[in-house]
Amino acid sequence: MARKIVAGNWKMNLNRDEAFALVSEITGMLKDEESRNLKVILFPSFVHLGAVVQLCLGDARIHVGAQNCNDHVAGAYTGEISASMIQSYGANHVLIGHSERRLYFKESGDLLSHKINMALQQSLTPVFCIGESLEERNSSIHFNRIEQQLSTEIFHLSGDDFKKCIIAYEPVWAIGTGLTASPEQAQEMHAFIRAIIRKKYSIEVAEETSILYGGSCNDQNAAQIFSLPDVDGGLIGGASLKSRSFVNIIKSLP
Ligand code: PGA
Repeated sequence: MARKIVAGNWKMNLNRDEAFALVSEITGMLKDEESRNLKVILFPSFVHLGAVVQLCLGDARIHVGAQNCNDHVAGAYTGEISASMIQSYGANHVLIGHSERRLYFKESGDLLSHKINMALQQSLTPVFCIGESLEERNSSIHFNRIEQQLSTEIFHLSGDDFKKCIIAYEPVWAIGTGLTASPEQAQEMHAFIRAIIRKKYSIEVAEETSILYGGSCNDQNAAQIFSLPDVDGGLIGGASLKSRSFVNIIKSLP
């Protein structure tokens, strides 16, 4: 059975005090849910990473990750952050291939493959994001696009390494737009992704891989989306910036 997860991607939001307040509110509210075996991942900005790790030490269910990492080990790459730096601060996850990185920073599939390798080398869990554009969906090539992203960007991994990764399906047209994939669209794509993983690796790998949904997920629609058989939780952007809505989303996990 795949692990159920709710992850919050803060993107380029929250200054120091706001970030600290959000974490303490979330950890406080989750105390009421102590009996539940939840997995939550927070993705703050790099500058807050070390502090957020420290603030979350009291709750083993809360993990912390970076929103990006460089594809090199170390060296003359001004302004960049390596996987080993992230790991050295106690963070254990990293987002790779978010559509905003692909679109605004022109990250190619080849680069993303290298980033996945680098993350795994440093024992970080990659949360690998895939998703089709509105044009691709309207032209009915969304399944081809998803299959292509998986096969060219992450299927170079061995089954053992792939099992260490989390997949996030985020239709680009649903991110930050208030448009959510319908339950039918989400389930259909998640089942497709699991089937492709099964074909490439095995039933065991496919069933153990957590496939998260992302794109305008909020505390009004999370319960319905999370109840779908092939959806193992969510990657939440805007709604992860408010403690109440984020904790309500976490509580929506079945
Ligand atoms: P959103 O973002 O929830 O604000 O749509 C999701 C994401 O980009 O990961």
